[in-house]
Amino acid sequence: MSEKKLWGGRFSGEADPQFAEFNRSFPFDRRLFEVDVRASIAYSRALERAGVVSPGEASQIREGLERIGEEGVNPDSSAEDVHSFVEARLVELIGDTGRKLHTGRSRNDQVATDFRLWMREALEDLNRSIREAQTALVEFAEANSEVVIPGYTHLQRAQPVLLAHWCLAYFEMLARDRERLVETRRRVNVLPLGSAALAGTSFPIDRETLAVDLGFESVARNSLDAVSDRDFCVEFLSDCSLLMVHLSRLAEDVILYASSEFGFLLLSDAISTGSSLMPQKKNPDSMELVRGKAGRVFGALVGMLATLKALPLAYNKDMQEDKEAVFDAFDTVTGCLQVTSTVMRNVTVNEERARVAASTGYMNATELADYLVRKGMPFREAHEVVGTVVMRAIDLKQELHQLPLSVLQQFSTQIDTDVYDVLTLDATLNSKSQIGGTARERVIEALAEARRSLAESFPGK
Ligand code: ARG
Repeated sequence: MSEKKLWGGRFSGEADPQFAEFNRSFPFDRRLFEVDVRASIAYSRALERAGVVSPGEASQIREGLERIGEEGVNPDSSAEDVHSFVEARLVELIGDTGRKLHTGRSRNDQVATDFRLWMREALEDLNRSIREAQTALVEFAEANSEVVIPGYTHLQRAQPVLLAHWCLAYFEMLARDRERLVETRRRVNVLPLGSAALAGTSFPIDRETLAVDLGFESVARNSLDAVSDRDFCVEFLSDCSLLMVHLSRLAEDVILYASSEFGFLLLSDAISTGSSLMPQKKNPDSMELVRGKAGRVFGALVGMLATLKALPLAYNKDMQEDKEAVFDAFDTVTGCLQVTSTVMRNVTVNEERARVAASTGYMNATELADYLVRKGMPFREAHEVVGTVVMRAIDLKQELHQLPLSVLQQFSTQIDTDVYDVLTLDATLNSKSQIGGTARERVIEALAEARRSLAESFPGK
């Protein structure tokens, strides 16, 4: 294939070979091949409608481009970028008519268009991968619907919760992530093509029709902005970053809960690794990598912001840096979502261990305080009283529900035998019965609601 540059006319000297390589984006932007061909086919129709090329020429261009699409991209080409690759191949295939395709177009509006087309699909793929992870969480919750674990604040045992409630907390985070992708898509789905290099096109390109042809919802209103706007990349990376925050928190919980110290979860061999030295080890590398890769995605976001900061209008080559950041974040997040789904399908629960942990550590202390409140004591006083009960229980090495009534009554005469009913694990759980609480009936409803929302392919659209 010809290595002729798209911009050679003004040049008499050759590019320094090292610089030429440095300048190339083909090694990574060939990922845009398919959308570049699609956008060019639509553009050829726009040129035809504008009377810039004849119907005969337009169909020649289209057939050439369709054939290129079928041939696929040649990864070994030495083209400068994917746009040069497609155009050079077109000229090779159909001759001089191919050279008319770029009329009134610049790689500046072309690359912005391609990247938005690519991202539209990437957002849909991500949405599907998140939904998959949500499904795995719901299935895990349903399969372990009776399991109770300690809930933590400050990583100290706080109040018992259903394991399903914990799963649904992550389900909610992922639901917001999916909504964000839908909202981002709306701003991605705007057509830059027809803005040309920076000032707009001087050919009568009907941009509205071109937008419809390519499935864009609207047309970029300002040509300078259209070619230099990479907000959509920042939004994409920011959505990915927040998603990674959520996955890393889930990963951390799983890592902790699978440790011998907690011991609530057991990771199957399919998602664990061993140690080259310590024969007894089984390590949660899967979740550690998800946790670790969050940093890499944040890096892409911060890198993108730094690249864009103070860039003068309009296009600058700095912006070529957008692609590797976005592609890498997309691949990383996709991989993390897949592994997370796999992990959730390969975790088993040590129910007994979880139950023991959930019923010890004075996590029913609040229930005792609430009990006193119901007997007429102001909450502040009840809190104080129960604090001293806990101190005594620690001394006696007993849980609150194991303390004899005579001991409890030393702290308040309002305590009676009915206190033992409110101190059970079940009572503790089921008292949290308002919307959003961990009571069994609420969680069963929440699981059903989660199932329902999984049936929607694009939440909030
Ligand atoms: N490879 C370039 C990029 O990704 C395409 C746009 C080049 N435009 C230019 N004026 N040199 O940004």
